[in-house]
Amino acid sequence: MHNAETMAKRILVINGPNLNMLGIREPQTYGTQTLADIEAMCKAEGKRLGLTVECRQTNREGEICEWIQAAYGKAHGIVLNPAGYSHTSVAIRDAISAVAIPTIEVHLSNIHAREEFRHFSYVSAVAIGVICGLGAAGYRLALEALAERLGA
Ligand code: DQA
Repeated sequence: MHNAETMAKRILVINGPNLNMLGIREPQTYGTQTLADIEAMCKAEGKRLGLTVECRQTNREGEICEWIQAAYGKAHGIVLNPAGYSHTSVAIRDAISAVAIPTIEVHLSNIHAREEFRHFSYVSAVAIGVICGLGAAGYRLALEALAERLGA
């Protein structure tokens, strides 16, 4: 017999470069919420859904790869905003493929309504889904979708 705690699915929320600047950074594009606000919302949403949510942010590509690798056998799902690395990083895509952990890609802005170079994301093809353009709500929706997928 498991208790609710041992049964809780573990979700890693990873935010990539410059997302630590949310609140200051181009609020017309990314909104006024800070990263701390978004992480607090993810934690609260996780609690509501019965998920254990851990949130991290880094400005370094290799660190994102290391966190994804370390999640193997530990996390049941990943919510990832690769930020600028979405459009450049084969390495992050390969890390997701390597661990095969269900991953939802989130972007605050609608990357398809912006500059051409943002329209393509290396990560999208290995994500189980992509949410963009819905602001901070995208993280909440990604957690909901993972909870449903994982039967949490
Ligand atoms: C972003 C979109 C990316 O194009 C950009 O480089 C970011 C943030 C978003 O959340 O809208 O840093 O991932």
